[in-house]
Amino acid sequence: MTDESDDAPRHRVSMFEADDEVVLGTLPVDGPRVLDVRGVTVQFGGRTVLDDITFHVPVGEFLCLCGPNGAGKSTLLKAILGLVRPDTGSITITGLDTVRGRSKVGYVPQRKNFDLDFPASPLEVVVAALLGRWPLGIRADERERAMAALRRTGAELLAHRRMRDLSGGETQRVFLARALVTNPELMILDEPTAGVDVGGRAAIIELMAEISASETIAAVLVTHNMKAIARCAERVLYLDKSVRAWGLWHELSTERALSAIHVGDHRAMHMDGD
Ligand SMILES: Nc1ncnc2c1ncn2[C@@H]1O[C@H](COP(=O)(O)OP(=O)(O)O)[C@@H](O)[C@H]1O
Ligand SMILES: [Mg+2]
Repeated sequence: MTDESDDAPRHRVSMFEADDEVVLGTLPVDGPRVLDVRGVTVQFGGRTVLDDITFHVPVGEFLCLCGPNGAGKSTLLKAILGLVRPDTGSITITGLDTVRGRSKVGYVPQRKNFDLDFPASPLEVVVAALLGRWPLGIRADERERAMAALRRTGAELLAHRRMRDLSGGETQRVFLARALVTNPELMILDEPTAGVDVGGRAAIIELMAEISASETIAAVLVTHNMKAIARCAERVLYLDKSVRAWGLWHELSTERALSAIHVGDHRAMHMDGD
């Protein structure tokens, strides 16, 4: 077994096979929104991957985005980041379009999407996020801000190592620091614990729990990790091409569909190649 087994459900069954209705639990009270997704549809080669997605994230809320492999979770995150253009619908970040709103967003990508042979140091990676370009030299104030972010994620002692020498958990701490250094209003996290050993995973979940406790940083976390959901989620959105459920975790986890995940029955979801 790989150390991803805790994150990786194996077999797919339809969670809503008996009925097609959308399960709505307690939704956020009306107030300022950091993320507003309205009627978003995305097609790839004529195939609908996201179908009329509508939800929002209030300022400071931590939303877990769940769903089987191929549900469109990563595509939705890419649309929020402005990397995929919806065929219909709109996405705003603090009222701005996704291009202008990008500076409000901190992104922690799936680890497999990184070139792990990267010769750079964690300090350079974090300063680059601060500057929006690769640093040629690092000024004292830039170094201090970057080191503060690395300290915040427990990665201070890694600052001068090389990215390619870091473990999965260490790499994710650096990427969390990189995402936090610009003081984002919205964190986007795509399976940050996948490919991380058990000890490293617990530490990342605790860091995400701190973000969840913050009233100024909102987050959208894609994860299959039940501990991460239980510890961090203020609200859960269950996606399978369309929105299938949206509400508080304790409400949805009693649904037949989600209780399968809740008790750790990973047969409820598909082996995630992510
Ligand atoms: N760039 C792309 N071109 C064509 N199909 C894509 C592309 N990206 C994703 N898909 C397809 O869209 C569907 C949703 O993928 P994805 O968003 O990665 O799902 P998830 O992250 O929930 O596993 C899958 O069927 C996938 O094969
Ligand atoms: Mg994905």
